[in-house]
Amino acid sequence: MAHKAAYGALFVLLFLSVIFVTVICLLGRDGTTQHESFPFWQRTIVYQVYPRSLCDSAGDGTGDLRGITSQADYLRALGVGTVWLSPVYPSPMADFGYDIADFVGIEPLFGTMADFEELRAALHDRGLKLMMDFVPNHSSDEHEWFVKSKRKEEPYTDYYIWAEPKGFNETGEPIPPNNWLSVFRGSAWTWVEERQQFYYHQFLAKQPDLNYRNERVREEMKNVLRFWLEKGVDGFRVDAITHLFEAEDLSLDEPVASPSGTDDPLDYGYLNHTLTLNQPETFSVVKEWRDVLDLYPDKAMIVEVFGEEIEEVMKYYGNDSVPLADFPFNFLLIEHLRNRSDLTGFALKDTIDMWLDNMPEGKWPNWVLGNHDYGRVGSRFGADAVDALNMLVLLLPGTPVTYNGEEIGMVNTFISWEDTQDPQGCRYGPEHYQEFSRDPERTPMQWDHSPFAGFTQGNSTWLPVNENYKEVNVQAQLQAEESHLKIYKELAALRKEESFTRGHVAYPVVTFEIFSVMRYLEGYESYLLVINTSEGEVEVDLHHHSNVELPPSAVVILRSVTDTSNSTVPGSVVKLSELILVPGEGLLLNLIEEE
Ligand code: GLC
Repeated sequence: MAHKAAYGALFVLLFLSVIFVTVICLLGRDGTTQHESFPFWQRTIVYQVYPRSLCDSAGDGTGDLRGITSQADYLRALGVGTVWLSPVYPSPMADFGYDIADFVGIEPLFGTMADFEELRAALHDRGLKLMMDFVPNHSSDEHEWFVKSKRKEEPYTDYYIWAEPKGFNETGEPIPPNNWLSVFRGSAWTWVEERQQFYYHQFLAKQPDLNYRNERVREEMKNVLRFWLEKGVDGFRVDAITHLFEAEDLSLDEPVASPSGTDDPLDYGYLNHTLTLNQPETFSVVKEWRDVLDLYPDKAMIVEVFGEEIEEVMKYYGNDSVPLADFPFNFLLIEHLRNRSDLTGFALKDTIDMWLDNMPEGKWPNWVLGNHDYGRVGSRFGADAVDALNMLVLLLPGTPVTYNGEEIGMVNTFISWEDTQDPQGCRYGPEHYQEFSRDPERTPMQWDHSPFAGFTQGNSTWLPVNENYKEVNVQAQLQAEESHLKIYKELAALRKEESFTRGHVAYPVVTFEIFSVMRYLEGYESYLLVINTSEGEVEVDLHHHSNVELPPSAVVILRSVTDTSNSTVPGSVVKLSELILVPGEGLLLNLIEEE
């Protein structure tokens, strides 16, 4: 008998402890339920930090790692769960860190490895993930491998793409092996006297392309991934992946693009890049990286694929038997919608559909509004559209990617030719630099109204601070009753609700001027985001246009800061048959179920 009772008690104890462990696992530290079944890159917003421009702790006018660490509380409070760090590796800064002289070190301008580890710990302590920029296509010409390769020192001789000249011109100058062009304009080949050969560079001459047909190079770069994984990073954003391979036969020319977007034969757009982009071997290398990452739990790989046919982009997801990246960046909102006149309800719907309809079964979408290579959202579409577009990308199904400063609606900064830093701008000269320079979107983060927007305690900054910093800054927006920042934070919190994480999506009203997204899930709240894409005020009867049954009224949850009407103060009830939206407005509504 006593035996039986003891077994019974043991069984009850075991049962209770299983329940206890399960409850603890399901509850996060803050007591909220976590979606343990989702990997982190599906649960979180990815926030891109451009290290030169977030925060300067040293007072030298350039942002650094300690500066970023000092803003860890800001990042947590913002509600973004993943920080992607643009390159912080040792670099001569010809392309501001995308020219790397040591893939496993830290650039002294940004700090030390100890500073990096402190940043990682600060983020992890706050429940944030950290992704590094991985730049596999090229190194700096100051990388030890290239220095040795130039001297034909083994095993580095073939670490880069070297080629014999096609011949010599009348003045005895060597002629490049083919017509391939650099993304940054001009020939992609540079002559090296020492080797009497050309080397290939898809970007600057200071960024020689690595040779991925060399097994040792592949192994070296996998070791780079392993190095950072061992340091505890949570994944990688892979730079310029489409350029990884080029045709093996270097005697072949690329065809002239037709129709051509340019008549400048030195402009990258002059050629059709059939031999230097998206070569089939690329995917096997991405697969090798995937295998490296998968030896560690919950690691992410996002790849940068720009300007390609949608079918090409989608290949980077891989498939069930050969999974590749977790996602290639979705740049369609940048590529298809270049300015405000492109922004219509129909265009938004087409752009969103284009991604979702082409995405392989079971894969995860993502939405990118901007980054360090494209103008600020407020400048491309108008400051009045900032909130609506943040609402859109944060509430659609999938992972949003936010570039630092977009949460406060920073706009492009005018940079004079004298102040221009970006090599892409510099190479086009004083007449045309503004069409190509990426400096305007890279200026220092605007923290407060003190000198240099609180970015530095020093007396200069690497790029000028935007003149509007006294009005557009974090501190002012935290104090204001309604602001871009407050809207962003509310969205970041709201998107954790079931209706957004697992809910369905519908687009009840899509017209030239209006775009709308509905998120709903049986047993949970239903939300409707309505956007006025036009530059004028719009009064709309949603019932008249809707392709689903909508209730008569809804409660306002969030509205763009430009809407100051008494009738749309959050909490107000509005009639869906007579909704008034100011230009560029986003209005997020909670649909009231009919009794
Ligand atoms: C990527 C980066 C860009 C850089 C280029 C070369 O496109 O986003 O900033 O110039 O790669 O590394």
